[in-house]
Amino acid sequence: ADLQPLNTFGLPGRAAFLIEVEDGDKLPQELASAELRDLPRLVLGGGSNLVLDGDFPGVVLKLALRGRRLIAEEGDARIVEAGAGENWHDFVRWTLQQGWGGLENLSLIPGTVGAAPIQNIGAYGLEMAERFDSLDALDLHGGPPRRFERADCRFGYRDSVFKQQPGRWLVTRVRFRLPRHWQPLARYADVAAELGARGLTQPTPLQVSDAVVAIRQRKLPDPAQIGNAGSFFKNPVVDEAAWRRLAEAHPGLPHYPQPDGSHKLAAGWLIEQAGWKGRDLGPVGCFERQALVLVNRGGATGADVRRLAAAIQADVLRLFGVALEAEPVFV
Ligand code: EPU
Repeated sequence: ADLQPLNTFGLPGRAAFLIEVEDGDKLPQELASAELRDLPRLVLGGGSNLVLDGDFPGVVLKLALRGRRLIAEEGDARIVEAGAGENWHDFVRWTLQQGWGGLENLSLIPGTVGAAPIQNIGAYGLEMAERFDSLDALDLHGGPPRRFERADCRFGYRDSVFKQQPGRWLVTRVRFRLPRHWQPLARYADVAAELGARGLTQPTPLQVSDAVVAIRQRKLPDPAQIGNAGSFFKNPVVDEAAWRRLAEAHPGLPHYPQPDGSHKLAAGWLIEQAGWKGRDLGPVGCFERQALVLVNRGGATGADVRRLAAAIQADVLRLFGVALEAEPVFV
């Protein structure tokens, strides 16, 4: 099966087998067949957080489980459930159209509902973990289906137990806990400025979503037009001493103090200072409006992406002494 149309970076590669998972119940049987039993597995959502580096000699499981519904209202919370194959942004907009705020800051993130918990998607001052209730997953190592509560997921910055155990868990349904007494989350400078420009002092959840959509469309490339996997590097976190040393040498360096006393730095700023913003290396480039995003200018392979990523990492390390960690999963 051709994987090129199934990854938003548009990188070439083929899978030995591709299974569209419509019904999670039948999957364990299918995977137990003599043909598939011993092959490696890759779970694919929207393919938006993936660097495909050549062919995959195993089984790709593409999630197609659908459905979205309100399952409970308890106290200040509203529990809403969606099938893993639902498109993330369509799901967010659907909740907002029902009048249920809570996910609006995560509007327009590419990918599926089932992929959202894997890397704990986040943007504009909100991480998915803060709105997460629980999820159901199949154990591809053969155990019984399992329900994960929030603490079981070990969510971190762009991280979870599912990302740490690749190929093990297939998320089938995710439940979100949305606040019934909603307050806009507009501390993030870009969001505050966009709402201000629209003259909105008391925005509705849909208006916040519209503002986030506008910001993202201005800064981030649309994967339908330019192949990319969103932020290519995590924002690095450094300790107090390293932060002081860097801030002294580079007064403009943006940073976000963390609860534990460490400091998160803006990788996009470091990359821009290193001179990479808008620059290409072969068919891969560093996006001109947001240096944290690498883009496929046409015909790129996984090796091209690795080459540019390594060149950027080397320059940032040399100039700032900071190691950038890639955010997407390499396959
Ligand atoms: N910056 C630059 N040059 C650049 C890009 C950014 O100087 O080319 C500076 C900005 O001026 C700002 C700071 O870096 O001071 C932060 O930039 P921005 O607000 O654009 O956000 P980010 O830290 O680069 C993160 C997430 C994005 C998310 C935005 C908004 C990560 C790895 N990335 O980017 O997530 O949309 O914040 O919340 O945490 C993704 O994960 O795929 C993604 C797009």
